[in-house]
Amino acid sequence: MDNKIDNICNMLDKAIKFEDEAVKSIPHEERPLFHFSSPIGWINDPNGFSEFNGEYNLFYQYYPYETKWGPMHWGHSKSHDLIKWERLPIVMAPDQDYDFGGCFSGSAVEYNGKHVLMYTGVREIILEDGSHFVTQDQCIAVGDGINYKKLDCNPVIKSEDLPEGCSIEDFRDPYIWNDNGIFYAVVGNRHADGSGQILLFKSEDLSSWSFVSVLDRSRNQIGRMWECPNFVNIDGSDVMIISPQEVKRDSKLAYDGNNTVYLIGRYDKETHEFIRDDYAVIDSGLDFYAPQVLKAKDGRTIMIGWMQSWDNNIVPQDFKWSGMMSIPRELSIKDNKLIQKPVSELNKYHSDHVEYKNLVVNNEVKLDGISGRTLDLSIDIDAADCQKFMIKIAKNDDYETVISYDAERKYICFDRSNSGCTLDVVHTRKMKINDYNKKVKLRLIIDRYSVEIFANDGEHVMTNTLYTPFAASDITFSADGDAKVSIEKYNIEVR
Ligand code: FRU
Repeated sequence: MDNKIDNICNMLDKAIKFEDEAVKSIPHEERPLFHFSSPIGWINDPNGFSEFNGEYNLFYQYYPYETKWGPMHWGHSKSHDLIKWERLPIVMAPDQDYDFGGCFSGSAVEYNGKHVLMYTGVREIILEDGSHFVTQDQCIAVGDGINYKKLDCNPVIKSEDLPEGCSIEDFRDPYIWNDNGIFYAVVGNRHADGSGQILLFKSEDLSSWSFVSVLDRSRNQIGRMWECPNFVNIDGSDVMIISPQEVKRDSKLAYDGNNTVYLIGRYDKETHEFIRDDYAVIDSGLDFYAPQVLKAKDGRTIMIGWMQSWDNNIVPQDFKWSGMMSIPRELSIKDNKLIQKPVSELNKYHSDHVEYKNLVVNNEVKLDGISGRTLDLSIDIDAADCQKFMIKIAKNDDYETVISYDAERKYICFDRSNSGCTLDVVHTRKMKINDYNKKVKLRLIIDRYSVEIFANDGEHVMTNTLYTPFAASDITFSADGDAKVSIEKYNIEVR
């Protein structure tokens, strides 16, 4: 027994010490400038995105020892402004019987001066005949912003207690909130039909939980397993954010595989029913998954996502870190649609303003003052006299990444085929946009290894990574006819 306790303390201590030492080997210049990136080794989903003691807190799925996924720990950082992050000690290691297979994703709330984390404990059970299966249960840890203690009564929601037909192997990623003194949590699960569903639970004391209802389910229409649910009210609409796997594309879900989707409708607090009106893709890029949403005290709804892909992971082999987070985004609802904008705090870091008004662009041009890899670049394009407008970024003689606007077909295309990545994976993606008479407004947030494309004031977004050498920093504009454009550029400077 004593040995076991030693082992338990050691796993977390070992990870904390390892991280402290290992991060020193990565110079700041090799990281994104204003996006959160893995301190060392591997990160995936944002977890526990919350406010605590007046600061934003971000936890993350973390395996510090290698640049690939491994037994999940929870890393921890905090920020005053969602842009500059301060690393704190790792808070959880998979060191208990009930989470030995990993401390999977979860969320956080502030309660009575304590910081409450709710996460999934994964356990692998090996039977005498050698066969094995996995169970996923929900667990709680409580802390003071630095040290967190897992509750003795964990797991607090056991998969074996789920209603019949609910999967015990796929039951994960609790999203917790407090409504008038009662805790609620939504958890991703798999229905007997093999596809995703969202289960709602409630508790008065955090330790004893009861099943309330199935809020929504895929019926094999919006992918298979639904990971990482979030449930929030935005501007009067009830919005469920999910990360469905194995999606088959249709008119609303524009590509196959892992997607991020919002379900919008009305939630009846009395009957605990959610009536879905509609659903749509959140981000059409190659690298956005498992977003998490924070209801901030200042009234904003802020979302951050993992800026990487499970299937198309292109982080260079020689990097000592793998994984970035998207720019945090303010969410709102307009005409029943989700609108995303980079948090306003980014504007504090604007410098070197350059503006061009009503420029006519045809042959490929570079513009004075517009180049680099850390920019906030807005381009209003009027394509009445051309069909296609192209922006090339991270460009030199060897490399380029192309963002094009096809005014006839009404889409934005991202293409990183010549960005320097030699892996035989998907490099292009198209995003349908609303038609405003062959006009579009683009805002590109470029940070060394990524570009997030916000179209028409956040109506459509696509997030993509590119690991082009920094020497490629030109930006060019061209059109297949005459395009009329207005451009506004800021460099981003963070010290
Ligand atoms: C989503 C996910 C979650 C899980 C975690 C494991 O990316 O698969 O469902 O909790 O990652 O790291």
